[in-house]
Amino acid sequence: MKRVVILISGRGSNMEALIRAQEAGELPVTIQAVISNQGAAAGLATARAHGIEAVALPHRDFATREAFDAALAQKIDEFSPDLVALAGFLRVLTADFVRRYEGRLINIHPSLLPAFTGLHTHERALEAGAKLHGATVHFVTPELDHGPIIIQAAVPVLADDTPETLGARVLEQEHVIYPRAVRWFAANQLQVRDGIVKVELPGAEQLVVAA
Ligand code: GAR
Repeated sequence: MKRVVILISGRGSNMEALIRAQEAGELPVTIQAVISNQGAAAGLATARAHGIEAVALPHRDFATREAFDAALAQKIDEFSPDLVALAGFLRVLTADFVRRYEGRLINIHPSLLPAFTGLHTHERALEAGAKLHGATVHFVTPELDHGPIIIQAAVPVLADDTPETLGARVLEQEHVIYPRAVRWFAANQLQVRDGIVKVELPGAEQLVVAA
């Protein structure tokens, strides 16, 4: 059984989707801990309500990015995870941190990468007149929001969309694709070669989810 640590910064709805999938017997993993860089993150209480150890490690307590990342790595390693899943963890990570967890660090990002890296992705998709938008689960590399793509979900952009309505449509799909990506990782179905993820697909599962 693979051991997972989830990092969050806020609401934690993707974290909750992973927890619920695990509780439903759909994820052959144990979720060892949830760690937040924001003490006030609502997701910490959600994790505790599910009986999962929830740790606040406020980045503001550290003088530098390097010092925070070192403390974060130390805390993560206490749980000896096979996989570290970023679920709305809104911090830029140092290259040293990313390299330490290379191949076992994944992220969910609210756009169809490589489009719209960074923040405010729903606003920017609307401003660009995109007709499709979505979310991506990918392995993390030192370059922000790059890294080998595991799975994507696409949603239509509707004429009357606001960032909020579009974001809600995307989030619904995030909760579908993140547990699926973690399940593939847990079952050793992901292989990365030359920056490309090859997935051994079981049955009728898909690499692209379209709403
Ligand atoms: C999610 O939409 C996630 O994709 C995004 O933050 C939100 C967190 O929501 N992540 C990023 O923007 C990372 N660059 P949640 O806390 O409810 O899962």
